[in-house]
Amino acid sequence: VSLRPYTTFGIEAQANYFADLISEADLETLRQLNELTDLPKLILGGGSNLLLTQNFSGLVLKLSLGGIEVVRDDERHIYVRAGGGVVWHDLVMYCVANNYAGLENLSLIPGTVGAAPMQNIGAYGVEIEQVFDHLEAVHIETGEKRRFEHADCQFGYRESVFKHALKGQYIIASVTFRLDKVPTFHTGYGAISETLAEMGITDETLTIRAISEAVIRIRRSKLPDPAEIGNAGSFFKNPEIDQAQFDQLKATYPALPGYPLTSGRVKVPAGWLIEQAGWKGYRSGDAGVHAKQALVLVNYGNATGQDILDLAQRVRASVLEKFGIEINPEVNVI
Ligand code: EPU
Repeated sequence: VSLRPYTTFGIEAQANYFADLISEADLETLRQLNELTDLPKLILGGGSNLLLTQNFSGLVLKLSLGGIEVVRDDERHIYVRAGGGVVWHDLVMYCVANNYAGLENLSLIPGTVGAAPMQNIGAYGVEIEQVFDHLEAVHIETGEKRRFEHADCQFGYRESVFKHALKGQYIIASVTFRLDKVPTFHTGYGAISETLAEMGITDETLTIRAISEAVIRIRRSKLPDPAEIGNAGSFFKNPEIDQAQFDQLKATYPALPGYPLTSGRVKVPAGWLIEQAGWKGYRSGDAGVHAKQALVLVNYGNATGQDILDLAQRVRASVLEKFGIEINPEVNVI
């Protein structure tokens, strides 16, 4: 089976076996299958955070469990459960349409609901851990069902337990979000307030729909649409450096942006470092660095996973040489 249609990078790779899991009953079948085979397994959501660098000799499990429903509400909150296979942006649009607040800043992020907690997706001042209530997962070997509360997920910046101690072990069947009946607007991110102003939105006319539209505009203007150019969003995470190193760099590069963290360290945008190192818009064969956002690596057509990985390594080495900062992939490299 070709995996090309199942990842947003659009890279050719073959898997020996492929199963689309569309219902809870399929998960039971999977458990029975496990008694018959010990093939290695790869779990696939929307394939939007994945770089395949070789064929996969094993079984690919594509997660397609659907469904969005309100499960309960209280005075301030509404709890919405979505199947792991639901397209993330569809859930955001459902919430915006019903005026359930909390996900609007996360509009248009590629991928599925089940993949979202894995890397604690975030954008424009919001991460899903802020609205996460709990999730239901199924162990891929034993079929055991388990409920994960917020603390069980060990969320961090683009991190969770599912990328570390429990990597590859669970299928996320559904996620329940705790949304607000009365919105708290997150407009602190510069690009958001600027875009809202351009749209003619004032404090009086601000709605979650307006924020969602602003985010959609910003993303469309900067980030390549995977339907047109293969990519997996930010390829690298933004590195954290200590204050002394930041001050030193700032003396040489006065324009260097930095966001102070509560830990005392400073987060620096990798996109800025990569651009300054001269990579923005670079192309070698079909592998490239996006011309409008240097943090995004792109496949112009027929790049291999290895081509992208080679380019990533060159970018990484050059940023290390120029700034003395290590940048690490956000994307899962298989
Ligand atoms: N910048 C440059 N050149 C570039 C790109 C960025 O100078 O080519 C500078 C910008 O001018 C700005 C700073 O870097 O001062 C930050 O840029 P931006 O607002 O585009 O955000 P980012 O830090 O590059 C992160 C997330 C994105 C998310 C945006 C908005 C990570 C790894 N990436 O990018 O998430 O959409 O913030 O919140 O944290 C993703 O994870 O796939 C993703 C797209």
